[in-house]
Amino acid sequence: MNALFHPIRIRSLVIPGNLFLAPVAGYTDRAFRSLCAEQGADFSFTELVSSEALVRGGVKTDALLRRGEEEQRYAVQLFGADPLVMYRAASLLLPYAPEAVDINCGCPVPKVVKAGAGSGLMRNPALLGRVVEAVLRASREFLAEVPVTVKLRSGWDASSLNYRECAEAAVQAGAALVSLHARTRAQGYEGRSDWSHIADLASRLEVPVVGSGDLFCPEDAEQMLRETGCAAVMFARGAMGNPFIFAQTRSLLCTGAYSAPLAVDRIRLGFRHLVMLASNLGEGVACREMRKQFCAYTKGMAGGAPLRNRLVHAETVAEYRALLQDYLEK
Ligand SMILES: Cc1cc2nc3c(=O)[nH]c(=O)nc-3n(C[C@H](O)[C@H](O)[C@H](O)COP(=O)(O)O)c2cc1C
Repeated sequence: MNALFHPIRIRSLVIPGNLFLAPVAGYTDRAFRSLCAEQGADFSFTELVSSEALVRGGVKTDALLRRGEEEQRYAVQLFGADPLVMYRAASLLLPYAPEAVDINCGCPVPKVVKAGAGSGLMRNPALLGRVVEAVLRASREFLAEVPVTVKLRSGWDASSLNYRECAEAAVQAGAALVSLHARTRAQGYEGRSDWSHIADLASRLEVPVVGSGDLFCPEDAEQMLRETGCAAVMFARGAMGNPFIFAQTRSLLCTGAYSAPLAVDRIRLGFRHLVMLASNLGEGVACREMRKQFCAYTKGMAGGAPLRNRLVHAETVAEYRALLQDYLEK
């Protein structure tokens, strides 16, 4: 077994490797997760899904919850602060058969936080524990007892770094894995993440700790695994437009080297993403959604800026194809 690349066991669930795709709202749709799985992501999370919307039967939530075609193992991530609503929402996941249910304790969005959910839950570790218990009860009763996991931030702000207390409350309530985005709610997505929090948690908890924050290339992942002792890492912004990062990181960890994809490979993968998304969500929605995704797929490419300026006006898959072909021919 490689010292840094290895399987992870979460209760009875065995994940063959430790390179995860993080939940990223607006980006990690099921088409993207499928492409990441194909490129070596060992585990992935849906975008955050509102427990209230799920219980109300929102039409849009179904698309968020479904497994990607190539996705072998995934967790549905729920947010909410009412244990009963979270219990009901988790009980409705039976048709999707996720391998785990993750509880979002990190979302910084004011509307979410005001309702006590997302990173708001970290201000009330006792409630966080009750939410974990409620979801675990639903998992036992409806979902063949799949593991319940939590994703935390370091704390609310620099003066209230309570990731330890929250992680302990979650684990005591039965959480089987803890992911830590090592930034505070006040930081949002700015500034450096503080990996010492990940190392601290990894040394204290008996359950696996997954590290998140500032993983933009394979070397970052290697460094985080080595320096913090976390069980797994999760790529977020570093995977946007770059599902290749999973295979590259695995190659780095296992052989010490990796190769970069060519522009044509990135564009081909982006186009496949568009086609899959169009079959999931319809052509119009997919074409609009893919504008931001293509900004990521073409980032850093020679001639990428004029291509992006043209792509943002594309309304159909055929228009995308023509623009991308034109770019590649030049
Ligand atoms: C646009 C965006 C959307 C995100 N959506 C979610 C989400 O739905 N659930 C969640 O737990 N974290 C979410 N995150 C946080 C990421 O999962 C990750 O923890 C964070 O981006 C830190 O990793 P990075 O610095 O490598 O990007 C989001 C981050 C970004 C930038």
